[in-house]
Amino acid sequence: MLSNTAKDYESIIDRIKPVGNVYIEVKNKLAEQKEVVSKIRDASSIYNTFCIACHASGVSGAPRFGNVNDWASRIAQGKQIMQDNVIKGLNAMPEKGLCMDCSDDELLQVIEYMIKDL
Ligand code: HEC
Repeated sequence: MLSNTAKDYESIIDRIKPVGNVYIEVKNKLAEQKEVVSKIRDASSIYNTFCIACHASGVSGAPRFGNVNDWASRIAQGKQIMQDNVIKGLNAMPEKGLCMDCSDDELLQVIEYMIKDL
């Protein structure tokens, strides 16, 4: 009954091959999607990774998250200037607020996030 000849194996392999290929395709797609997702960072996660160290408690005079008094004069100069200052660094604030791989646009989004409730 069990006649597992080389030919039988070949025909079995032929039959399961398409399934195997679909599996590999799905697996590759998932890996691609995972990579894309890991590249998407929202403003809050950037803030919580980099900026929070100084901007939660106001280290060296850093304007504190969501604090109207700390932010009023800075907001008055406009977002463009704030963005430039973060990109270049400002006094005790290091360049890019230490998020070295942040894009200019991401930094702007984080600034907006820090002042969203004012
Ligand atoms: C090592 C501490 C430190 C880190 C980390 C840091 N900051 Fe700052 N930040 C400061 C200090 C200090 C100031 C005030 C600088 C001054 O006016 O002398 C400041 C000022 C700012 C300002 C106001 C700039 C202006 O034009 O008045 C913005 C906006 C800002 N930070 C955004 C960020 C963002 C976004 C991050 C994270 C990506 C970040 N900071 C990370 C210390 C830090």
